[in-house]
Amino acid sequence: MTADAPIARILSTGLYTPPHSISNEELVTTYNAWVERWNAENPDRPKEPSSPGFIEKASGIKARYVLEKDGILDIDRMRPKLPVRGNDELSIMAEMGVLAARDAMKRADLGPDDIDAVLCAASNMQRQYPAMAVEIQNALDIDGYGFDMNVACASAAFGIQTAVGLLSTGARRVLMVNPEICSAHINFRDRDGHFIFGDVCTAVIIGPAEGEPAPGQFDILDTRLKTVMSNNIRNNMGFLDPATDTVIDWDDPDTDKLFKQNGRSVFKEVVPMVAEMISTHLADNQIPGDSLKRMWLHQANLNMNELIAKKVLGREATREESPVVLDDYANTSSAGSIIAFHKHHDGLAKGDIGVISGFGAGYSAGSVIVRAG
Ligand code: COA
Repeated sequence: MTADAPIARILSTGLYTPPHSISNEELVTTYNAWVERWNAENPDRPKEPSSPGFIEKASGIKARYVLEKDGILDIDRMRPKLPVRGNDELSIMAEMGVLAARDAMKRADLGPDDIDAVLCAASNMQRQYPAMAVEIQNALDIDGYGFDMNVACASAAFGIQTAVGLLSTGARRVLMVNPEICSAHINFRDRDGHFIFGDVCTAVIIGPAEGEPAPGQFDILDTRLKTVMSNNIRNNMGFLDPATDTVIDWDDPDTDKLFKQNGRSVFKEVVPMVAEMISTHLADNQIPGDSLKRMWLHQANLNMNELIAKKVLGREATREESPVVLDDYANTSSAGSIIAFHKHHDGLAKGDIGVISGFGAGYSAGSVIVRAG
């Protein structure tokens, strides 16, 4: 595949941002109050306090949006308190998906009749079945089919490549949504990870590259995916828990039924893997790394992104070249690179080339080379 022949087009994107934001200070106040109580009750197993300064320096995160704030900041709960909805109501994940999808549909001036397939690509699904994508498809009144896919933080990149494939099997346009309720899988009593994630939903509409792309649209020149097994980011919650008598124990602050990672190892192993993947992907498409005008990278860690961008470009990237949204949004898993793209795709000249890249648990990584319309 050469860079000249687009394989599909990003017609529009959409974003749903939850109403509540939690600052590092608020989060740490709750965590440290809990640690004080824990240490008084468990003097033989003391825990260290957290600090807003560490969080910002180690990750670049200053705040995160969440669906619900009070439950997270309540030291007797330390997890969001979300309502149970009946089977005849729109589920929470589907509602986020619908809101982001409507935003994307409006921006591309597309209605339900223009879309043939819905992908729900995210790190966690609210239930086992029916698929979230089918519920979203139904709520939007879209004919055709929908299915869910989970490749953790790389889900959106995998979703874009899947959408490109679906176009070749007859779908006219594909809607991909990334509803991420990361606050429900964080362990807010884990000092290493309590600050990492936020909630959000993004949407991308992918169609064929017919005629000239309009300004704000991007031709997809090529996609590439990679997975390498690693236990360094893992969440062991699953449907076998009742059968294996390992249902989450809320009295255990070190539970493995929530997000757990070896952050240092992830940093060391994922940075070279992703930089190499993007560089090789560009080289195979005869695109010099230093000619890239923008890199919309997964938003997990600012230092990681600076290193990856430097390796690919051969020099430090400016904030314009490698936009940052994790300061306000934190890590929003698969949605992060799409939020960056959604908010920071202006200012490019027609023909400028950029890369969207998501990476995370699996390990999994995806690279999408796009050209501005
Ligand atoms: N508050 C204060 N200090 C903390 C802390 C906290 N919340 N958490 C850890 N520390 C301390 C550690 O105890 C350690 O102290 P020591 O040097 O005295 O032992 C020090 O800070 C460094 O800890 P470390 O875990 O090595 O930090 P780090 O610089 O690796 O940063 C991450 C931690 C998680 C921010 C970073 O590793 C990271 O972002 N990794 C990649 C994560 C990622 O992309 N995940 C993808 C998920 S999809």
